[in-house]
Amino acid sequence: MSTTPPTPSRPLAFSLFFVLLCLPSLSAASAVAYDPATLPRRRRGTPTWPWLAARETEEAAGFYNPLPGGGAMLTEAPNTFPPAGEPLNIIFTSTKTPAVLIDQEIEGGFRNFMLGVGFAGECLGQHEGDAQKANLGDGHGYLNETAELRWDYGDPSLGTCTETIEGGNHFRYWIQNGPDANSSAIFMATSYEQPLTAGHNIIPNGYNLGRDWLVGNITGFAIDSNNVTNTTAYSGTVKWAGYVYSVDINYVSGLLANSSIGVNHNDTVPVDGKNAVDGLVAVLEVAITTIPKNATSSNAARRTSGFVPPRIAGAFATLAVLFFSALCI
Ligand SMILES: *[C@@H]1O[C@H](CO)[C@@H](O)[C@H](O)[C@H]1NC(C)=O
Ligand SMILES: *[C@@H]1O[C@H](CO)[C@@H](O)[C@H](O)[C@H]1NC(C)=O
Ligand SMILES: *[C@@H]1O[C@H](CO)[C@@H](O)[C@H](O)[C@H]1NC(C)=O
Ligand SMILES: *[C@@H]1O[C@H](CO)[C@@H](O)[C@H](O)[C@H]1NC(C)=O
Ligand SMILES: *[C@@H]1O[C@H](CO)[C@@H](O)[C@H](O)[C@H]1NC(C)=O
Ligand SMILES: *[C@@H]1O[C@H](CO)[C@@H](O)[C@H](O)[C@H]1NC(C)=O
Ligand SMILES: *[C@@H]1O[C@H](CO)[C@@H](O)[C@H](O)[C@H]1NC(C)=O
Ligand SMILES: *[C@@H]1O[C@H](CO)[C@@H](O)[C@H](O)[C@H]1NC(C)=O
Repeated sequence: MSTTPPTPSRPLAFSLFFVLLCLPSLSAASAVAYDPATLPRRRRGTPTWPWLAARETEEAAGFYNPLPGGGAMLTEAPNTFPPAGEPLNIIFTSTKTPAVLIDQEIEGGFRNFMLGVGFAGECLGQHEGDAQKANLGDGHGYLNETAELRWDYGDPSLGTCTETIEGGNHFRYWIQNGPDANSSAIFMATSYEQPLTAGHNIIPNGYNLGRDWLVGNITGFAIDSNNVTNTTAYSGTVKWAGYVYSVDINYVSGLLANSSIGVNHNDTVPVDGKNAVDGLVAVLEVAITTIPKNATSSNAARRTSGFVPPRIAGAFATLAVLFFSALCI
């Protein structure tokens, strides 16, 4: 005789609880206004740092090297002794269509682009852990991360909850918009993390792999991380919500050190006798090439409705149990 207990009707209650928790951040996100008059304008000038010399024919680099302005290409992670951080290993720029540099999902902004690559906001707007800080040499000094986006496992609404539990690719980012270097470029600290149960440490070679898998998601080409150099270049196309973007990617040296010193988790991340960070930054030059006819309406509503389809209620329950277990131990 089976003694299986009746399935408890908890998932819906848990779902509502989490949706309520999210409400403040969701309404804040949907309140972002779009005003074309405030589009970033680039300060143009002769580049002064050596690694750019070969690129002088380009109209502009689209970002400023943080180092001359007193900044750093490693973040500062909280509670690390000695202080350690993560490499800012992707720089997102646009010299032609600055609308894509705006940190929003509407009007073809950064978050819409990233949805097309497969990255979405954190699980139900929740953020776990203390913020990291970075100094982009723009006169703002060290600032908390703007936000964190995670690999969404093909589901922009809830896939990042899977990432939180199972681990995966993710990045924190900061915008270079201070008075001394106002490029509006977005600096991303990308890494591939282990599951929650493993304390969200970084997988072996996880900084270089996180960078190259994100670039691979743009190009559709599986990159061999042992084979990239400061002459590696790719191009790709990203599409989301009717917007189409072209992306040119150049790997550059001279910004990050090819080193493990000061890199968080540098005891476990290096592989094959190499450094935790290979010293290369993937610079993305992104342009919006197609704007859909319906562009004037906000597509943010899709993700801020608060509607929870029944089929994923079980996932909420699992997540809730994990959250509560973490809180209670
Ligand atoms: C940076 O540039 C943007 C766009 O031109 C402008 O709105 C903003 O005020 C500038 N910020 C600073 C600190 O100069
Ligand atoms: C930066 O983040 C920390 C921890 O995440 C928080 O305590 C602090 O208030 C934040 N600072 C600012 C200026 O928001
Ligand atoms: C896309 O990202 C996923 C998750 O990080 C990764 O497993 C996959 O290899 C990437 N695709 C390419 C072509 O790099
Ligand atoms: C290694 O890099 C070279 C030169 O960029 C390229 O031609 C080759 O396809 C790459 N090999 C792999 C396995 O990625
Ligand atoms: C690539 O790195 C080498 C040192 O490994 C350096 O000599 C060369 O100038 C760099 N090339 C570019 C285009 O940055
Ligand atoms: C606009 O149209 C595109 C298809 O061209 C569609 O993917 C997108 O969801 C639409 N956006 C809105 C807000 O209706
Ligand atoms: C890790 O970085 C610290 C400085 O934060 C340094 O003292 C240590 O030697 C580094 N470890 C390795 C294996 O490079
Ligand atoms: C980084 O330095 C290691 C030696 O520690 C070298 O094998 C590797 O080729 C360098 N990587 C790049 C991208 O220059």
